[in-house]
Amino acid sequence: MRGWTDGYVTEIGYTYSFHAELQPWPLADALGARSPIQPGQPFDYCELGFGQGFSLALLAAANPRGRFWGNDINPDHVAHARWLADGAGLPNLTVSPLGFADYADTHLPSFDIVALHGVWSWVGPQQRTEIVAFLDRHLKPGGVVYLGYNVLPGWAQYLPLREVMLASARRGQGSLADRIAGSLALAERLRTQEAGYFRVNPTVSTRLDALLERPVDYLAHEYFNENWHPTYFTDLAAALAPAGLHLAAQARAADRWEEEALKEAILTVGGKGAADDPEFAELLRDFLTNRPFRRDLFIAKGGVERRALERSWAALGHPRDLPRRATPATLPIEVPYDAAHAALTALQAGPMTHAALLACLGDQGPAALAVLAALDLVAPALPEDGLADRREGCDRLNGLLLADAATADRMPALASPVTGGGIAVDRVGKLFLAGLAVGADPVLHAFGTLETAGQRVLRDGKPITTAQRHKVELGERWESFAKRRLPVLHALGAVP
Ligand SMILES: C[S@@+](CC[C@H](N)C(=O)[O-])C[C@H]1O[C@@H](n2cnc3c(N)ncnc32)[C@H](O)[C@@H]1O
Repeated sequence: MRGWTDGYVTEIGYTYSFHAELQPWPLADALGARSPIQPGQPFDYCELGFGQGFSLALLAAANPRGRFWGNDINPDHVAHARWLADGAGLPNLTVSPLGFADYADTHLPSFDIVALHGVWSWVGPQQRTEIVAFLDRHLKPGGVVYLGYNVLPGWAQYLPLREVMLASARRGQGSLADRIAGSLALAERLRTQEAGYFRVNPTVSTRLDALLERPVDYLAHEYFNENWHPTYFTDLAAALAPAGLHLAAQARAADRWEEEALKEAILTVGGKGAADDPEFAELLRDFLTNRPFRRDLFIAKGGVERRALERSWAALGHPRDLPRRATPATLPIEVPYDAAHAALTALQAGPMTHAALLACLGDQGPAALAVLAALDLVAPALPEDGLADRREGCDRLNGLLLADAATADRMPALASPVTGGGIAVDRVGKLFLAGLAVGADPVLHAFGTLETAGQRVLRDGKPITTAQRHKVELGERWESFAKRRLPVLHALGAVP
């Protein structure tokens, strides 16, 4: 069908998100002594199917001692990644427009980490075979693969919705965007007719409402590829086994927290079978949670265990961001509030070692730190050694991102030399920082930039009708940003 290359959507570019799961140091933290990378040491990192390449470029900027590589079959995506690399001066980033098989045949190093986010379940059997061959050939002994993918049974109810929308898009006329709009309208008509499928699967209606809110670039890649194969964990594990890979850990702290919380339930359901077979236990966990997306770390045979280095933590949020209860994965977490609040408060001044934090937190300390990590309110911090180099790379990229925010609402993060990763900052936040950087009033700078572009922020999801109200809204946002976000960004070194 027009608009697809090898069954993959190329007519519409992908979104410009930052995926925190791709950050090397939280992955190293998840693996402990088995981590193939160590702070201060050079390493080789590859992202296959990197989309717009924003996450990859940010990681290259924040880790000048690492070498970053990647491919994407969409030439516009590769051009965007190259624009970031050139604009931010990133000599340690090399990108390619080749598909997986041809890319594997180029001159590449042996990688410590290969990452694939949102790729495995969006490509066909041929490409999945090529990916496994790539890993077999290019991953170091003890190297790690990060895979983020759609999983079953979490998607089971929604597979027919995507099928009927794709069938409609195939038959439709006009651009891919027009055909996507047509297929959403068809799904709405099915719902209006009280189709049996909608009746017996009531959550499909909620999902359709959510789809109607999403931008077309997201929908095109998420639902309108020729290939879209949510998979059972056990099938993925079987596909990777011939490359000598086995599951090592969950990439996200929230999933590791949930893994602990569900241990008993899995044994109750699966008995000896679950105790003896970790893959079967994982399958049961997917049924217990019904989560739609997994973020796995697989490790190759032949690695050496090293003594785990002392951990340090940096704050990614302000104490006022701390909830009393939250659901970062599928189960609610009761936050040990006082200890977690004390930890976040202490970290506002800058990173602290795990031991120093525990010393001032009391009995609740370990639980508080585990929960703060699960809520993405803290992240591992890198040693002081190399900070100046990391700061230079981050400043160059962050300067480019602040300038980009004048005309575009995309790439919603800045790079941190403290974590070697990213921190979420929306467009208005970036405009405030751009104002501060030139010594201007941040509110007036953001206001002037947006009004010149003929754009206004929304209030409660609705357009603001007058310039005066727009200025007031930006003033209120600045109050909150200056109190809660700016100190965190300063402590992370993310303000250029
Ligand atoms: C759903 S998007 C995810 C992009 C990115 N990883 C992210 O999460 O932002 C899948 C990406 O895989 C790329 N892709 C699809 N088939 C490919 C192939 N054979 N070789 C390289 N990249 C491919 C697409 O162009 C697209 O950018």
